[in-house]
Amino acid sequence: MASLTELPDLKRDFDQQLSAAHTEQQVRKVYADFGGANGAIRAKQKELLKTAPNEQKRAIGQATNDILQQVESAFAAALARIANAAAAKDLERTVDVTLPGRVHRLGHLHPITIARREIEEIFAQIGFTVAVGPQVETDFHNFEALAMPKDHPARDMQDTFYVEGSPDVVLRTHTSPVQIRTMLAKKPPVRVIVPGTVYRRDDDATHSPMFNQVEGLCVDVGVTFADLKGVLLHFARRYFGEKIGVRLRPSFFPFTEPSAEIDFTCVFCSGAGCRTCKQTGWIEIGGSGMVDPEVFRQVGYDSEKYTGFAFGWGIDRMAMLKYGIPVITQLFEGDVRFARQFR
Ligand code: DAH
Repeated sequence: MASLTELPDLKRDFDQQLSAAHTEQQVRKVYADFGGANGAIRAKQKELLKTAPNEQKRAIGQATNDILQQVESAFAAALARIANAAAAKDLERTVDVTLPGRVHRLGHLHPITIARREIEEIFAQIGFTVAVGPQVETDFHNFEALAMPKDHPARDMQDTFYVEGSPDVVLRTHTSPVQIRTMLAKKPPVRVIVPGTVYRRDDDATHSPMFNQVEGLCVDVGVTFADLKGVLLHFARRYFGEKIGVRLRPSFFPFTEPSAEIDFTCVFCSGAGCRTCKQTGWIEIGGSGMVDPEVFRQVGYDSEKYTGFAFGWGIDRMAMLKYGIPVITQLFEGDVRFARQFR
């Protein structure tokens, strides 16, 4: 039985190598080298059993199996140790309950959207409903039916974009064509407010080739110029505050008669005179007037029976005045730092 003495040496080697193994892969290799089917301990067992006299075989089998069992449980313990260490490390890495959460910024409405909604709301409260129309418009709706026939000089003021190859299709230059669409679609009484994007071929600090207007139209029996002024004053006070005044100056638009330019008290100096209002105390807002009988004729309304007023102005300009935005292009640059400043 002299050769059995080699077993403790093998076991010691195994223990040494196992304690030096730090990964699952290393542990498995050490086990395979000693306790596996082709490992050193099993090889030794086979060799001993083959050469030993019969009466010793039992003791040899017992001794080697004991060692193998110890190897087995040391192997299992080593695997468990590595798995536990990995799990502990994983916890450390992923769960830090003290870490503050990431705060996502809320989105903001664009100042033009805010202005449009406020304008719609003020007019909704006095019985106006919102109407919309297409941005690509026919010459008929944009010009002709608004009493601007082909040779009309007022067309020059509008710097129109034409759709290529279609002389009668334009990008609408104003929201007034929706007046026509509304009246063609329904009989009086009409009370609509029309917000929308319009296009003109100019581009500088105060003009953008794309901007937004709002149009108003009110048609019924007995509508007067005084109603126009009353509605405008109501709007101005609700939008800019009770101290705002409204001034109407004689003007000309082909689709209104009489026509008037709308001025509001300068919101920057409250009418005292400043650089923005060029010391006049007033700021130009838009156009207005009584619907021209020719427009009524175009849409089949009886101008002996009905009268109406209309008005139109830039929503962008409203927002600029309300928030003190100096340059119109800031509205369209899409800079989130700009949009964030409003509400
Ligand atoms: N459509 C005109 C423009 O864009 C503005 C305007 C003037 C609209 C008078 C009206 C109005 O409804 O009555 O220049």
